[in-house]
Amino acid sequence: MEPECDKLMMEAINKNYADMDEYPVTTELQGCQWRPMSTNPVRNQPERWDLLPSIPDNTHILCKVANNRCVNIIAHLFNAPVNEKEAAAGVGTVGSSEAIMLAGLAFKKKWQNRRKAEGKPYDKPNIVTGANVQVCWEKFARYFEVELKEVKLREGYYVMDPVKAVEMVDENTICVAAILGSTLTGEFEDIKLLNELLTEKNMRTGWDTPIHVDAASGGFIAPFLYPELEWDFRLPLVKSINVSGHKYGLVYAGIGWVIWRDKEDLPEELIFHINYLGADQPTFTLNFSKGSSQIIAQYYQFLRLGFEGYRKVMNNCMESARILREGLENTGRFDIISKEQGVPLVAFSFKDKNKILAFKLSKNLRRFGWIVPAYTLPADAEHMTVLRVVVREDFGRPLAEKFLSHLRIALHELDSVMEVPIPTIRYTMELRPADHVEDDGALPLPNVVILKQEVEPMDKSITLTGLLFQNAITS
Ligand SMILES: Cc1ncc(COP(=O)(O)O)c(C=O)c1O
Repeated sequence: MEPECDKLMMEAINKNYADMDEYPVTTELQGCQWRPMSTNPVRNQPERWDLLPSIPDNTHILCKVANNRCVNIIAHLFNAPVNEKEAAAGVGTVGSSEAIMLAGLAFKKKWQNRRKAEGKPYDKPNIVTGANVQVCWEKFARYFEVELKEVKLREGYYVMDPVKAVEMVDENTICVAAILGSTLTGEFEDIKLLNELLTEKNMRTGWDTPIHVDAASGGFIAPFLYPELEWDFRLPLVKSINVSGHKYGLVYAGIGWVIWRDKEDLPEELIFHINYLGADQPTFTLNFSKGSSQIIAQYYQFLRLGFEGYRKVMNNCMESARILREGLENTGRFDIISKEQGVPLVAFSFKDKNKILAFKLSKNLRRFGWIVPAYTLPADAEHMTVLRVVVREDFGRPLAEKFLSHLRIALHELDSVMEVPIPTIRYTMELRPADHVEDDGALPLPNVVILKQEVEPMDKSITLTGLLFQNAITS
């Protein structure tokens, strides 16, 4: 981030976001509306934003929680059906994990309320997801006692299959969680198809199963790069969306957002009202206190970069990802698992699916300062070991090329090492009674006598980044 923004963040480092009365400007950053100034004729969507002077006094209390500049900007970006006089419903969080907990709780509460009203059991809620979900969904399921019904992956298909997901939906399903930008491969799930299939099932069964979109990464990519892609509130069943500000929102760690389609999707009983800090403060977060800096930084980035700035940053990231993808393909050693449309990352595996090689390559790359995780995919694609390079905004062409040259060296070293046989040393030992007694009466250690040592002769040598290591063993 720019030094000006770092400075702003430092100036706000002592401000508690929870003290809305004491630090009204921070709250104001969450407390004003934005209105579209001009519309992109191609997308027929707002493109520039201008600040409305203040929140109307009679704003609904829920809107007050949610009504903030960043929330409104993001809600419009996600095509929430709010007109320019309305405030969008949403909150700033510590990251997507907290955002997902809040969204999940809202779904659970709504489902329970409906089931209670119908006189039906409400003790076995479940969420349908792909097996590729990020761990925060598992945390949510465990902490808040919701079963996670996972659609298994399969060879060649590493995201949630909407057909299978809808088949798994039952009357206890509080929502289907789709991911815009799988953590493991960066791929976008087909949320439009999911919406169609689920609408059809809802009509058939009389249920009302909604969709949550986990757009932790994709939420700040798709609106800029793929405006025609329908994944957001344009799809009627999408009731809430989370996004991480600290991923492609371009802010340091510690900020996420959750936006609801409508304030009706956020059950009133989840809002807490406190007044001991001077005024009525509605809150819907897991933690009470938190720093203000990240919210200020997010707002700074929105103002500083604007729609066009974000679009350029995301385009650059995609271009770097393309260079990486091509370089990896040119080695002839890898299958590219990630798709061209998705999060700017490259996920790849060795063509021969060699697990050991993947982990070793990851380790070798660390020596050059690159942290490229290797991991196995979830069920039923556990046999796949994948490596992943995530492109951030500061990863341009020069770095991409440097990475590729280091990768070639690391690959070469790997091949050389794999060719060299592992040296074998065979010892014949004899344990003889100790020749002295310990003072404290403890059992004395025996004497170890090596009778014979055999070394298999080796004549190979390998080169590691310019240094010659002889691996012949001398006794
Ligand atoms: C798809 C997805 N959801 C949720 C999360 C959790 O996000 P956060 O780190 O912002 O809590 C991640 C993080 O990688 C993610 O990729």
